[in-house]
Amino acid sequence: MQYRRLGSSGLQLSALSFGAWVTFGNQVDRGGARELLACAYDHGVNFFDNAETYAAGEAERVMGDALADLRFPRDSWCVSSKVCFGSVADPKPTQRGLSRKHVMDACHQALQRLRVDYLDLYFCHRPDPDTPVEETVRAMDDLIRQGKVLYWGTSEWPAETIREAHNIARTHSLYAPTMEQPQYNLLHRERVEVEYAPLYREFGLGLTIWSPLASGVLTGKYARGVPGDSRMNTPGYEWLRERFDSPEGRVDFARVDKLVAVARELGVSPAQFAIAWCLKNPHVSTVMLGASRRAQLEENFVALDVVGKLDEAVMRRIDAALA
Ligand SMILES: NC(=O)c1ccc[n+]([C@@H]2O[C@H](COP(=O)([O-])OP(=O)(O)OC[C@H]3O[C@@H](n4cnc5c(N)ncnc54)[C@H](OP(=O)(O)O)[C@@H]3O)[C@@H](O)[C@H]2O)c1
Repeated sequence: MQYRRLGSSGLQLSALSFGAWVTFGNQVDRGGARELLACAYDHGVNFFDNAETYAAGEAERVMGDALADLRFPRDSWCVSSKVCFGSVADPKPTQRGLSRKHVMDACHQALQRLRVDYLDLYFCHRPDPDTPVEETVRAMDDLIRQGKVLYWGTSEWPAETIREAHNIARTHSLYAPTMEQPQYNLLHRERVEVEYAPLYREFGLGLTIWSPLASGVLTGKYARGVPGDSRMNTPGYEWLRERFDSPEGRVDFARVDKLVAVARELGVSPAQFAIAWCLKNPHVSTVMLGASRRAQLEENFVALDVVGKLDEAVMRRIDAALA
């Protein structure tokens, strides 16, 4: 495993980390979670990602139970939660968003479900147009001063709103966001490569990136239809299937075919190739993997050895395939 600093902070996260979305509480129970977390930890993973909204809180409960079973020393791994969408099916106004009220309540509930005394990373899962940014910055600062959170960050915030949060923090001597959690993969590059470009230098922004395989599409496994045991066939994720059934989705599948061919020529799997491409970006602090079974994790960890194969000629071929 390699370890990378979370932006300009001193926290060293494993370059590959592991998240719970879709899988924990839906496809994977406590025993399955234990197996996946143990596999990840044995490969050097030290960051596990979660959110209040995943499986309506059940993903945090399953992860908390599995981590308690495994008894890894608490100072050897990091865990996150995210606040914004709420953890119940039809949240009341105080049960969602980024108000001081919900940021505090959601943190306390995540601590209980994950069975930890503090969250290493705590993210605002999206911007909240109904809450002043200063209210959220102050709530996060308070949680850090109370020792309940170590680093706070954002997920899919516009660059301008991240800058606003930094300016508020600087003006009032509050803790500023350390990291952002954006989608980043071969099919989705703009925000990380263009919109956020000035923020790496200005604020030392770290990135914990999500969906490196575009929900599995970049493995090439959907080329001949939807396998029965895959994410696109999971109840509740019909929207994912619809997205890739659209005209834009079909363009993406044509791109994936070309990328798969390049990966095969290099003698690596399409998943390893796509993850290695994410790792090659030095602004990425950690690539968050998802997996419904152990064999996927085992395959994907090999991506660390594939980065060196992505020389300038290969990168040019990738850009041509995506054009
Ligand atoms: N902040 C946010 O808004 C946000 C949004 C999404 C995700 N996230 C975080 O980022 C993490 C990773 O995102 P993601 O789960 O979407 O990652 P991903 O790597 O794009 O997709 C992971 C899924 O692809 C399939 N897969 C993985 N490796 C495979 C392989 N080698 N061969 C075939 N299929 C494979 C598995 O699904 P199946 O086996 O079921 O097909 C797996 O669950 C999440 O767990 C979550 O913690 C954050």
